[in-house]
Amino acid sequence: MARVRADTADEPTIVADPDRMHRDVLAARGRGRRVGFVPTMGALHAGHVSLVERAATECDDVAVSIFVNPTQFGPGEDFTRYPRSLEADVAAVAGRGATWIFAPHADAIYPPGCATRIVVDGPARRFEGELRPGHFSGVATVVCRLFLAVPADVAYFGAKDWQQTLVVKRMVRDLGLPVEIAVCPTIREPDGLAMSSRNAYLSGDDRTRATALHESLVLAERAWRAGEPVTAIEQTMRKHLASRGVAVDYAAIVDRESLEPPSKPPADAVALVAGRLGSTRLIDNLLLPRRG
Ligand code: PAJ
Repeated sequence: MARVRADTADEPTIVADPDRMHRDVLAARGRGRRVGFVPTMGALHAGHVSLVERAATECDDVAVSIFVNPTQFGPGEDFTRYPRSLEADVAAVAGRGATWIFAPHADAIYPPGCATRIVVDGPARRFEGELRPGHFSGVATVVCRLFLAVPADVAYFGAKDWQQTLVVKRMVRDLGLPVEIAVCPTIREPDGLAMSSRNAYLSGDDRTRATALHESLVLAERAWRAGEPVTAIEQTMRKHLASRGVAVDYAAIVDRESLEPPSKPPADAVALVAGRLGSTRLIDNLLLPRRG
């Protein structure tokens, strides 16, 4: 259902203070407005913008958070070099339906001496959870903290980070957090590469080879439709990635909810892939059609 916005201002209001953010969102909801929330780490691209636009069609007001969350980066990962571009980010969502940009300082999210973390098991265990210890605990902790600051009706996440959507949904369910979770499709470059803030790290040659991730998923889908066994499909994916010079972290076909090996038919499966090109690590996935 399309919503008519009461205010026509294109420029979002930038808010740093979580208490102010909380008050503004509750006030809007008190006026009967439906509030959507899009959590991000900034360096906004068309994938992020698609979440904002979807939120704006379903809600009266939209909050977009921009916070490069230190606790979800491991030692030696790219926290310090992660792109930060608040001005460009404001421009990217201006006129797209964002009411507020919530850009808190780190000590407002993690007060000095903060000793609390959320740990999710289950969907957080394998894949990214295994390769990036502590990553999903950092994600769950910050998303919970952001949900407290932005008490929205619905929060929007990208299918691009499929495992992350499962972790967030599980946390929301387990803690009884009063927010709906909406998962939106992955937005891609014309050559298939999933949009990501990390694509900016790729040099010319690595950028060309990065399409191998999506190609491996397309190959997987074709083989899946043809009824090939999972192990053979995974091998085809790994082979393709290696042939394009991608160092494979994983290439797997699993149940799309449990991330365990797919059940005997019918299975709702997802193909997951992660690999490295130089010092850049990329992930992607594709939901596979049900096969009977
Ligand atoms: P970030 O990588 O900035 O992504 C913010 C949101 O945008 C996530 O829900 C992500 O899945 C979505 N997104 C990224 N690329 C996308 C694409 N190509 N198409 C569609 N959606 C896309 O994910 C995070 O930040 C953080 O972990 C966060 C949830 C904000 C917690 O810090």
